[in-house]
Amino acid sequence: MNASNEKATLSFSDGTPSIDLPIYKGEVGPDVIDIRKLYGQTGKFTYDPGFMSTASCNSKITFIDGDKGELLYRGYQIQDLATNCDFLETCFLLIKGELPNKKQKEEFDTLVMHHTMVHEQMQFFLRGFRRDAHPMAVLTGLIGGMAAFYHDGVDYTTERERDVAQIRLVAKMPTLVAMAYKYSIGQPFIYPKNNLSYTANFMQMMFATPCEEYKINDVLVRALDRIFILHADHEQNASTSTVRLAGSSGTNPFAAIAAGVACLWGPAHGGANEACLQMLEEIQASGGVEKIDDFIAKVKDKNSGVRLMGFGHRVYKNFDPRAKLMRETCYEVLKEMGLENDPLFKLAMTLEKIALEDEYFVSRKLYPNVDFYSGIVQRALGIPTDMFTCIFALARTVGWISQWEEMITDAEYKIGRPRQLFVGHATRPVPPIAKR
Ligand code: CMC
Repeated sequence: MNASNEKATLSFSDGTPSIDLPIYKGEVGPDVIDIRKLYGQTGKFTYDPGFMSTASCNSKITFIDGDKGELLYRGYQIQDLATNCDFLETCFLLIKGELPNKKQKEEFDTLVMHHTMVHEQMQFFLRGFRRDAHPMAVLTGLIGGMAAFYHDGVDYTTERERDVAQIRLVAKMPTLVAMAYKYSIGQPFIYPKNNLSYTANFMQMMFATPCEEYKINDVLVRALDRIFILHADHEQNASTSTVRLAGSSGTNPFAAIAAGVACLWGPAHGGANEACLQMLEEIQASGGVEKIDDFIAKVKDKNSGVRLMGFGHRVYKNFDPRAKLMRETCYEVLKEMGLENDPLFKLAMTLEKIALEDEYFVSRKLYPNVDFYSGIVQRALGIPTDMFTCIFALARTVGWISQWEEMITDAEYKIGRPRQLFVGHATRPVPPIAKR
């Protein structure tokens, strides 16, 4: 964080003396005004529900330029990473700050792939869930349960214990997601195979059975690996901020990640890909391309409560660079599977085109986000709709844990404790029950 000579002067019309606030400059992106002493000096808080103008931390991990449509992990453009690296290289980059060389990559891959098994008793823990539970509910419980199964690391002030927790999370998340899936469909769990790549191993745990090996298809593995890369981190989004806030109390990292998984589940965040595919299926069922105009009219009607899922983003106001990569991947996967004429893909492309030309979306700077096409890709890979957000959680785990590590090791680290503007009753006496 670079202090600058510039200051912000805050003046008040209520007689409170004006104060100077320091301004800091980031490497790129907006400057920030340091308001930490505001309350002490003026007795006032700032008010920013939804954090529209608030930087909650300083970070070196991910940078988004919403106007340019740029996403950088540790300074590398997402397009470059998605084209030239695999997911585990991206994990190494996010956790350690630099891309691995060949030797470091081999060592890291081996390390991760030798931590893929989970405690055998996790199976019995899993069996306590109803089989028809939403997999995100199950996953939230499983990750929280990891805190009980891997409680040997309890001193997260030591670098070694934090390293072990990071590797365990990245390594075991695919196993837990696949277990949640197998449980939901009543099939036996498939153990990890450490000689496969991270993503190929995940696919075999999802799709193999004890009676039939899963045939690895490199195009499909690469597509899922790319989905993982595109979702690996995204600055201080809702679930990452949740992980930071939960982790700021010094809680166990598995518990903090469980909080992140719970937050991600919501339809305005990670649940959007599931909601988007459902939306496309509903339009298709109601008449397909012919019915797009009716649907768009509903979206524009504020009373309908309908949104065009997979469109719009709090930060990207020009385009989401991940959406373009996802559309490419979508095409590659459908081609590989002989599904080029997939009606949902055609419907999505038509819907995108119409929305991008429509004044409602143009004036509000609403563009397709990563979720617009990712549901179609995942469906083609054989992943059921209610598992989509689990895939997102699997990929985002590395981002969450990197941000957690960055927070814990930040000299300015403090427990997160927002304040409020209280608009309820001031002090009042409790009336006797007969008078209420
Ligand atoms: N469809 C229709 N109208 C929309 C949409 C949409 N998808 N998104 C925003 N708007 C309208 C909204 O009604 C408002 O209009 P007005 O100014 O007339 O009241 C205006 O655009 C601004 O919307 P907002 O809700 O204030 O914007 P936000 O920055 O708070 O919301 C968002 C961002 C992602 C929650 C929202 O765009 C949305 O709900 N999108 C659909 C869900 C979705 O695809 N989410 C995935 C986000 S990408 C994955 C991730 O990174 O987690």
